[in-house]
Amino acid sequence: MTERELYEKALSAMQNAYAPYSKFTVGAALLASSGHIYTGVNVENASYGATICAERTAFVKAISEGERNFEAIAIVSGEGKAWPCGICRQFMLEFVEDDFNIITGDSIESLEMRTMKELLPEAFRL
Ligand code: THU
Repeated sequence: MTERELYEKALSAMQNAYAPYSKFTVGAALLASSGHIYTGVNVENASYGATICAERTAFVKAISEGERNFEAIAIVSGEGKAWPCGICRQFMLEFVEDDFNIITGDSIESLEMRTMKELLPEAFRL
């Protein structure tokens, strides 16, 4: 599974985003060490705080299927590049190592990649 393939999965997942309030659609594709890919989208709610981001949707799907080891996640929004929000960074940290890869980009030709450690240095862990 290449970075580009994972990005394409996030892009096609984004079609299922439920974002009637912000209109900001997000798609994610999470690669587990098993080789399985779990997609996710943002799911908004009339009670705005109940909204769940695409990244957390993907992780919740994977964890609830028994996955515990992850390699990378690709994220894309309707406006292009989308680095994960602060809550998602902390949420992901729970399940990944410092070298977990986070991929995004405005297009498949301009992908950028950062590690978990780069996106959340000096992180809180119990
Ligand atoms: N959103 C995500 O899905 N992932 C992020 O990392 C940032 C924000 C969603 C939440 C909300 O539905 C919309 O983008 C606007 O904030």
